Amino acid sequence: MERSGSPPADGPASPVTVRPATLDDVDAVVAVLVEVAGEGRWIATEAPVDVEQRRRRMVEDVEREEAIVLVAEAGGQVVGELGLYLARYGVADLGMAVAPGWRGRGVGTALLTEAIARARNAGAHKIALQVWPHNRAAIALYERYGFQREGYLTRHYRRRSGELWDAIIMGLRLD
Ligand SMILES: CC(C)(COP(=O)(O)OP(=O)(O)OC[C@H]1O[C@@H](n2cnc3c(N)ncnc32)[C@H](O)[C@@H]1OP(=O)(O)O)[C@@H](O)C(=O)NCCC(=O)NCCS
Repeated sequence: MERSGSPPADGPASPVTVRPATLDDVDAVVAVLVEVAGEGRWIATEAPVDVEQRRRRMVEDVEREEAIVLVAEAGGQVVGELGLYLARYGVADLGMAVAPGWRGRGVGTALLTEAIARARNAGAHKIALQVWPHNRAAIALYERYGFQREGYLTRHYRRRSGELWDAIIMGLRLD
């Protein structure tokens, strides 16, 4: 599968499809993560990403039962990914990323809709995630789906710059 790239500036909008990732998608998914990590503002992963380690972890995730990895495809490219990690106590931890050039086009919505259905089917009673307080787009998306703010971690995550960032804990009950 090809990597994310950018949509044509004035071309027709490509329909987005969401499906489980296969091993053939691993490089493209890692490429999305590297690109988003490079922005330095949205996800916990920071540049420089250890690509080989990420590839190995992604291969494991695609293959193991406790993880659900979804990809969003548009125009034959992987333009977004979402991972759900199913804990034994019934909570599915969620992380997601859409390539910068593809945001605001419904890709995140398509991924999250599918993820909620799959978490429920997998027997999870709740989806949990953490988000930086400055990530207004992500918080708005989660709140639109009914995620509640459940907690706040103050000066919790040390970034490579040495800064300590807060995080909001959000949860969506499925029971
Ligand atoms: C957060 C993210 C996944 C949203 O994906 P997306 O494809 O842009 O989202 P959509 O186009 O489906 O938009 C869905 C909703 O998200 C919210 N949203 C998206 N972009 C927004 C923005 N720039 N400002 C405010 N709200 C925004 C809105 O509620 C929007 O609904 P609307 O279009 O009806 O207003 C995407 O911005 C992203 O990947 N960001 C970087 C990585 C990241 O933050 N991951 C989550 C870490 S917790």
